[in-house]
Amino acid sequence: MSDAQMEVVIEEKIAVFASGLGSPAPWIDRLKANGTKILCLVGNVKNAKRVAGIGADAVVAQGTEAGGHTGRIATFALVPQVIDAVAPTPVIAAGGIADGRGLAAALALGAVGVWCGTAFLVAEEANQPTTQKQRVLDAGDEDTKITRLYSGKTMRNINNPLIEAWESSGLQALPMGLQGLLIQDLVYSVRQSGREDLLMNAAGQASGMLTRIRPAADILHDMVAGAAEILGRTLPARVTAVPEA
Ligand SMILES: Cc1cc2nc3c(=O)[nH]c(=O)nc-3n(C[C@H](O)[C@H](O)[C@H](O)COP(=O)(O)O)c2cc1C
Repeated sequence: MSDAQMEVVIEEKIAVFASGLGSPAPWIDRLKANGTKILCLVGNVKNAKRVAGIGADAVVAQGTEAGGHTGRIATFALVPQVIDAVAPTPVIAAGGIADGRGLAAALALGAVGVWCGTAFLVAEEANQPTTQKQRVLDAGDEDTKITRLYSGKTMRNINNPLIEAWESSGLQALPMGLQGLLIQDLVYSVRQSGREDLLMNAAGQASGMLTRIRPAADILHDMVAGAAEILGRTLPARVTAVPEA
């Protein structure tokens, strides 16, 4: 976000501010003075400690499985380590969570909630072309790839021949901002030639478990109902845990 956009966030006294890339440190005092709840998304323990240290109200621990810009640590390993590192700051789990099983597992890891992206890419309401939604639906578990091609930073996308060519070229990406400028003409040509399959299509490994386009409310309802079933019925019937006296 630019400084000018942040000024609007502060002027409008936005209720919740979530930062992804970068730290909200320069604005934290003014956001806090407005009563804005501050969520910070991180992909490793080092950055989790950094944002908890400046007063984030919650830390979103995002595993490498996630769609979009992402790190190297998987959700199952990352979430407990972040929880231990930033306690008592609440931690929200992200990356690869797309149904009730993922929600139940995240709660079992100690997360206070989950943060999803890929699952809602195929919501009826999602503001992206049907062709891109279809590519997410068509993708299997191995059909996403992390690349710096589109933004200069590591971003998980539905794989395509352009990403494959870039990765095998050994070329170094330019920093964020400049890489986008570098490939601007290429993206224009790709669009003109109708090769939408070569465009950026950020999505996570959970793409492989998505099967249809449906309303966001249905996705959310099934996720919550699925987790309630697992936590309230399936697991208690399968697992007998006797706490130590
Ligand atoms: C298409 C797409 C765009 C995203 N854009 C952003 C973004 O601008 N800022 C951000 O912090 N996270 C962004 N993310 C990451 C999400 O906030 C979220 O952490 C991630 O999708 C969770 O993993 P999942 O995709 O496995 O559900 C994006 C994710 C996707 C799929």
